[in-house]
Amino acid sequence: MNIGNVTLASPFVVAPMAGMTDSAFRRLVKRHGGCGLVVTEMVSSEGLVRGIDRTLEYAEYTEEERPVSIQIFGGDPEKMAAAAQVVEGLGADIVDVNMGCPVPKIAKHNAGCSLMREPGHAATVINAMAKAVKIPVTVKMRAGWNDTLRNAPELAQRVQDAGAAAVTIHGRTAEQSYSGSADWDLVSGVAHDLSIPVLGSGDCIEPEQIVERLRCGVSGVLVGRGVLRNPWILAQAADLAAGRTPREVTLRERGEFLLEYIDLLLGEGVNEDEGFRHTAGAQTREARGRERWVINKLRALCAWYSKGIDHGSQLRVRVNSASSIQELHDIVNEFFLVCSITVLPAFSR
Ligand SMILES: Cc1cc2nc3c(=O)[nH]c(=O)nc-3n(C[C@H](O)[C@H](O)[C@H](O)COP(=O)(O)O)c2cc1C
Repeated sequence: MNIGNVTLASPFVVAPMAGMTDSAFRRLVKRHGGCGLVVTEMVSSEGLVRGIDRTLEYAEYTEEERPVSIQIFGGDPEKMAAAAQVVEGLGADIVDVNMGCPVPKIAKHNAGCSLMREPGHAATVINAMAKAVKIPVTVKMRAGWNDTLRNAPELAQRVQDAGAAAVTIHGRTAEQSYSGSADWDLVSGVAHDLSIPVLGSGDCIEPEQIVERLRCGVSGVLVGRGVLRNPWILAQAADLAAGRTPREVTLRERGEFLLEYIDLLLGEGVNEDEGFRHTAGAQTREARGRERWVINKLRALCAWYSKGIDHGSQLRVRVNSASSIQELHDIVNEFFLVCSITVLPAFSR
């Protein structure tokens, strides 16, 4: 599949997830295979243009993650165009625009999903960006703002005309947030109508569902919460799509994933080779506060990762009470690695 001049080796994509899909997580998922594209957490266009360190950090990526899409949010056409240029300057393959975030803090600034309420303005934003950069500009939207404004079909057409190279639709409205289920009929209808690639997002928790959704006529499938629960899900979907038996994941492997994630987080920005990381800010990070940050990251991931595992709630509670990296190691070792010859029922075949 191609998005503009960018070729994706697989149609399965790690969805953007604020607070979750950091570079370390994306690298690990990518290493397990099946992943055609990763999307960063959403990054503020304002922060990018003003060169705010924290914002620039969200936009960092490493070479092994390619192709990489950096998702930005904002509502001002000029600023979004300037932010797209920063993204291009960082060497990213794609710049994606968030038109799906329902959080009032974002939506009230005429950004995120509130752009869906002003399709003309949304198209102006995309047009300004497409003129400002050579890399593909893509859009991720919802089905609409609410039930009376399910306008993804019209908006998708408008952003296509304005120069978007691909569109992703999460088939829920902003008002729905995560309730109900994603409307994949709407997504496949848009895929049928547009000439650019249309990707779908929503409710793929098992690898079979990903492959099934691909058959609805979309060019690709973004997987969000399913990847947080099972980082092998894209590899398993790729196996299924190729007619192979999906790989099994043992408890030991699941434990090792967490240990590797801890290691990568601890090492972010520390003694890295020249060229390893694409960054517009400082190359090295302060060690101060690092341990607390890693613990919080593990807590956030384990809230999802523990779902569907026997005694997962115990893992969650224990990780939530951990106060050091050593404690995290002990918990993971005890939960996953001691006597872990079992294949996890939820992910076994
Ligand atoms: C914790 C979390 C954070 C998210 N952050 C973003 C984001 O920054 N940008 C975005 O476009 N979508 C974001 N989403 C939406 C997902 O990309 C995806 O479209 C949605 O979760 C539906 O897919 P799923 O059922 O596979 O999770 C987020 C979802 C979750 C669960």
